Amino acid sequence: MSHSANPTPRRFLPTGPLSGTIRVPGDKSISHRSIMLGALALGETRVTGLLEGEDVMSTAAAMRAMGAQITKTPEGEWVIQGVGVGGLLPPETALDMGNSGTSTRLLMGLIASHGITATFVGDASLSKRPMGRVIDPLSTMGATFAAAEGGRLPLTMTGTQPAVPITYRLPVASAQVKSAVLLAGLNTPGITTVIEPVPTRDHSERMLRGFGADLSVEVEGDGTRVIRVHGPAELRGQTIVVPGDPSSAAFFIVAALIVPGSDVLIQNVGLNDTRAGIVHVLRQMGGDIAEVNPREVGGEPVADLRVRHSALRGINVDPAIVPSMVDEFPVLFVAAAYAHGRTVCTGLEELRVKESDRITVMRVALELAGATVQETEDGMIIDGTNGAPLPGTSGAHHVATHLDHRIAMSMAVAGLNSMNGVAIDDINPIATSFPNFIALMESLTA
Ligand code: S3P
Repeated sequence: MSHSANPTPRRFLPTGPLSGTIRVPGDKSISHRSIMLGALALGETRVTGLLEGEDVMSTAAAMRAMGAQITKTPEGEWVIQGVGVGGLLPPETALDMGNSGTSTRLLMGLIASHGITATFVGDASLSKRPMGRVIDPLSTMGATFAAAEGGRLPLTMTGTQPAVPITYRLPVASAQVKSAVLLAGLNTPGITTVIEPVPTRDHSERMLRGFGADLSVEVEGDGTRVIRVHGPAELRGQTIVVPGDPSSAAFFIVAALIVPGSDVLIQNVGLNDTRAGIVHVLRQMGGDIAEVNPREVGGEPVADLRVRHSALRGINVDPAIVPSMVDEFPVLFVAAAYAHGRTVCTGLEELRVKESDRITVMRVALELAGATVQETEDGMIIDGTNGAPLPGTSGAHHVATHLDHRIAMSMAVAGLNSMNGVAIDDINPIATSFPNFIALMESLTA
């Protein structure tokens, strides 16, 4: 993958106000799932609005290696001919997952209930991330694993057919773990159950139903969700429109909020409740974010967001909202660094096992840019500038992004209202989730 190319440093300089209209690319989580389910369905699936980032391309390459046909039309539509549940073929070479944890964990689920062997490899970031969280339930279903120390990549697994249906209570709030077990359940005779005490993004459940799987969700009195999938499932090809990614929109929402004079319209933002935490929190901080033209795209709520520069106030972020904005904390820390007063975030343990340790890496990055931050075991405390520019990075100092796209984009945003700009050691990882990020930024600052 190209992110192993030579690092490309870049300094993000302060700009004038951001103004104009942009459209964010397709949702990464939904894009992965549309390729996987299309590849597993019988017949043809057509996808428009697919995110063509490197992570999604890793998923597409893996599904091709296991027998699916995946092509793109000249009009930009993706067409998938699936193999049918139970029909995955053994890949001839190792599956290169690049930087993508979602590809790895969800595909491990699919393979677990097919009688095939596959090897997963990834970049330096992915090779540090824990896979034990999916190895545990999938082993109970009958799959076997040989992983590097600590349950990490490179990893070789052999699925089993028929697998054993299980009832699994999620020990961590993780949509990836939930999805891995549900996907394994597709080719497992009987009922596979996932118990989810804290709700996480529900794109797998929505899309599995859309493809015709027999899937039920029961919500108990305390909010616990019990998700059951009946296997073996028969999935039928679908036509899918992927809504825009709220996690990508978040960078431009924060950019518009912190750069004085900004007024930006961000089109096509997915606002599924299990993803929209960042919009709620920024509004609580005083952010002016208006929803224009609310509608449904591909069975998901979507709106255009008009965002204007706002005087933000520090808040205590309710840890209950963390799962609905788990990927947005790096950029929330940036917003907090420009707010009036103190922002306290807790309950962020999971951030330490993302593409990088996003608590430590953001603490170091923000300090380098002159912000006042304290790292805690499970969170961050940020004392904001009350709107004043941060000093930025000086001289030869570069923010170390550790192959983490969201660190690179968050600190790029921080640079927009700094005195010296913010220099980033490598912008290549941005292409994993948001290939046209810099082009869109330039279009708003031209
Ligand atoms: C994702 C789930 C989240 C998120 C990741 C994408 C998904 O991870 O951080 O970027 O598509 O299911 P966890 O479920 O492990 O928290």
